[in-house]
Amino acid sequence: MAEQRFDAVVIGSGAAGLTAALHLAQTLKVAVLAKGTLSEGSTAWAQGGIAAVFEPGDTFESHVDDTMVAGAGLNNRDTVTFVIENAPRAIERLAEIGVPFNRGEDSADRWHLTREGGHSHRRIVHVDDATGWAVQQALEKAASANPNITLITDMVAVDLITSRHGVRYSGEGHVWGVYAYNRKTRRVDALIAPATVLATGGAGRCYLYSTAPRGATGDGIAMAWRAGCRVSNMEFNQFHPTCLYNLEVKNFLISEAVRGEGGQLKIPGTGHRFMPDFDERAELAPRDIVARAIDHEIKRLGLDYVHLDISHKPPEFVREHFPNIYARLMELGIDITKEPIPVVPAQHYTCGGVIVDLDGRTDLPGLYAAGEVTQSGLHGANRLASNSLLECLVFGEAAALHIAEHWSELPTPPPIRAWDESRVTDSDEEVIVQHNWREIRRFMWDYVGIVRTTKRLERAQHRVQLLRAEVAEYYGNFRVTADLIELRNLVEVADLIVRCALKRKESRGLHYIRDYPKTLAKVEDTILTP
Ligand code: FAD
Ligand code: SIN
Repeated sequence: MAEQRFDAVVIGSGAAGLTAALHLAQTLKVAVLAKGTLSEGSTAWAQGGIAAVFEPGDTFESHVDDTMVAGAGLNNRDTVTFVIENAPRAIERLAEIGVPFNRGEDSADRWHLTREGGHSHRRIVHVDDATGWAVQQALEKAASANPNITLITDMVAVDLITSRHGVRYSGEGHVWGVYAYNRKTRRVDALIAPATVLATGGAGRCYLYSTAPRGATGDGIAMAWRAGCRVSNMEFNQFHPTCLYNLEVKNFLISEAVRGEGGQLKIPGTGHRFMPDFDERAELAPRDIVARAIDHEIKRLGLDYVHLDISHKPPEFVREHFPNIYARLMELGIDITKEPIPVVPAQHYTCGGVIVDLDGRTDLPGLYAAGEVTQSGLHGANRLASNSLLECLVFGEAAALHIAEHWSELPTPPPIRAWDESRVTDSDEEVIVQHNWREIRRFMWDYVGIVRTTKRLERAQHRVQLLRAEVAEYYGNFRVTADLIELRNLVEVADLIVRCALKRKESRGLHYIRDYPKTLAKVEDTILTP
């Protein structure tokens, strides 16, 4: 086993991980791990943009209020205020490292701001309709140029190294880095450091249909839980209302900005615009409301999809605002300047996660977390559009600053045990891993989706328990592979989602359960303690 030591190990190379690494690298030697290439997280796929107060007449209070309304009051106001007040600065910093945000139409407007659901002002700074790719490339370029940052690709974190992995007992629950499966050598290495930052993104791939990339398997949430961190609000999975319906291309997002710029949702055939029947904000209601309305119409009318139509806007306006969506759909034979887009809701964002404070600290000493892996209090019961990249930037920096300021107090890691493979063999039954992956995603979609019932949740819990036992046995007997590591995490996270969903005896935000349709007056996070 290879062992490497750094000042800090950052697990994840998306917006949260690279932001943390760039701040840490001002004084410390940092390793950044990615389980594939650097650009394979959700960050690179983000379309709409990043929310911040720039429009004349807009205020921090208004952005805070919109965030709390979308989050159905479950948000922590201190966290919301902290993130929103830091937003303009975070965006300026991205511009400084070369993110080419679209400029405003006249010299008085620094940025072009688009509108998205739930925002009462134009607030979304963007790079056409492919903001995430531009952000990811700029962060990667800055990190690659930094001599204090070592970028390590094809390294799949397996488990956090805690005091129980020390050769001698060492430190009350301190986290000393991570064991990670090296895809190139097919062995497990130890990356050891006094400080570890989890920035592994969300768990969208628990669901059959998700806009998230293949690697969104909740690894960080599962690792932190196994190591002893509390996890919260996992019942709140955001379903994006408008994922392209296409039998071959299953997870192409049609940005909310399309609705922000006038796109309308219609019933195929009749052309009836149905959102005004559900909410006075129509297509610009928060996502939980729009996704539920689409789900309702699809089920009521036995449809495969609904239509999103922006063809009433001038063709040059559509091509100019949505060049990537336009080009991708043209490849698939849909000209969005002339015809509507077939869309369905799909899982999009994991609102719950590892509990962190305003410094990105988890429950365990030495372990920090930032981005979609966390439950920071920002999103509450439903994330407001384009607040997520923002959270990555603000908390990536906050965690790094806390580590740097408290560096002298962090203990030196003790000797760490090598990964033990003496009692495992190579698997001869890969089919089990593939089968179980598919099974989890299918029953999570059917039983723990947009509209829930206690009975379906209990069915899901039963399935999870059987799979947990099967996966644990498999994990105990066979050498790890990337797919097995992800499956083990998926089943762990599915369990956390179902447990949280069963605990919440009300409907709030993204958690809609028929047995408890009302929202309770008492506002409470769902907290699971290992
Ligand atoms: P990610 O960017 O997902 O990065 C995760 C990193 O962790 C990756 O580098 C991955 O390799 C690594 N990793 C994971 N597991 C392991 C492991 N076991 N070992 C080693 N490394 C690991 N939000 C907005 O604010 N605005 C938008 O316009 C927007 N559009 C979106 C569009 C799409 C299609 C999607 C899917 C999401 C969108 N979001 C948007 C949400 C936003 O993109 C994500 O929440 C955000 O990018 C998450 O960033 P992150 O740094 O936390 O994780
Ligand atoms: C989108 O462009 O619709 C995604 C925005 C987000 O998820 O915040």
